[in-house]
Amino acid sequence: MLLFSNDLGVDLGTSNVLIYADGKGLVVREPCVVAVDRNTGKILQVGAAARNMLNRTPGNVVAMHPLREGIISDHEMTVRMLQEMFKTATKASVFTPKPRVVISVPSGVTEVEERSVINAAIEAGARRVFLIEEPLAAGLGAGLDIKDPSGHMVVDIGGGTTDIAVLSMNGVAVSSSLKVAGDSFDEAIGRYVRRQHGVVIGQVTAEDVKIQIGQVYPRHEELSMNVKGRDAKTGMPKMVTLTSTEIYEVLRRPARMIADEVLSVLEQTSPELVSDVSENGITLTGGCSQLWGFAELLIERTGIPCILADDPDSCTAYGCGKSLAWINHMQEGPINIARRRIMRNG
Ligand SMILES: Nc1ncnc2c1ncn2[C@@H]1O[C@H](COP(=O)(O)OP(=O)(O)OP(=O)(O)O)[C@@H](O)[C@H]1O
Ligand SMILES: [Mg+2]
Repeated sequence: MLLFSNDLGVDLGTSNVLIYADGKGLVVREPCVVAVDRNTGKILQVGAAARNMLNRTPGNVVAMHPLREGIISDHEMTVRMLQEMFKTATKASVFTPKPRVVISVPSGVTEVEERSVINAAIEAGARRVFLIEEPLAAGLGAGLDIKDPSGHMVVDIGGGTTDIAVLSMNGVAVSSSLKVAGDSFDEAIGRYVRRQHGVVIGQVTAEDVKIQIGQVYPRHEELSMNVKGRDAKTGMPKMVTLTSTEIYEVLRRPARMIADEVLSVLEQTSPELVSDVSENGITLTGGCSQLWGFAELLIERTGIPCILADDPDSCTAYGCGKSLAWINHMQEGPINIARRRIMRNG
């Protein structure tokens, strides 16, 4: 028997990759971005260093997000990024065995998409790969007691997907994955600023606006922010002042789509579990759940108390880490077919 394990829990997200190393805690927390030299194919940077290069690179260098809407969109780049991150996480010496890895996937993925995550992790150096549904991991990481039969609801609003699930007895009773999340809000802000103010702003600036002055529920004070962009007509640099009131109007629609989906999941849930959820409350996780007013919006729409988890960006990674405790009982390979059975032995 090994004296230590080098098993990893991996939250492979559209915006961020977090890795939990067994016995050590979170050892990687990086933006999900890769920069590569187009001529040589060599990886130049991954994570935060690569993110700083987004939209700033000379012709031969490309910095990109290898995932879109929760799904791998560039296999090769995902493999190279994970390779670097696994190395950091295991501090590989010649004697360390390849890690076993638990990775979270959005609840709506197809079997083909699950296989692509498994293959990417194996190519990146994993010995064995186990999948866990993202909202289940998020609920575990948020500290919910999901073992007992009582129902809990988790709404995980990430960068690419919003995962909504009712959890009970270590499993997912009802779930839905919506491709409306942080990136959709950024894109909506970018489109609005161009249309309304005639200024083109970058993705990173749009995200900054969302975080600084974004809101999805009315608030008393009005905030404003100056942002720099490019005049859509002349191409010259131009500054524009944005207010939280106008950004609220922009974000209302995508936020409503998320709230509608939460209601639709509740409608598909058995009356017993809905009654549990209304007692236990709804737990919000994921980076974008910190957008001002999300809990208030969901309370208004559902009539159920909503609680923002502690450290909402890290819940999924902590949950993947916690699930390493029963890795020996988990089933390898795609979980679509046997999804409900996997965790029961825990
Ligand atoms: N304080 C904040 N306020 C609003 N949004 C935030 C804040 N902090 C982070 N975000 C947003 O959270 C999103 C990233 O969240 P997270 O790291 O949970 O996503 P992910 O797990 O990588 O994506 P996914 O689970 O969808 O694949 C980004 O859109 C980011 O802009
Ligand atoms: Mg996520």
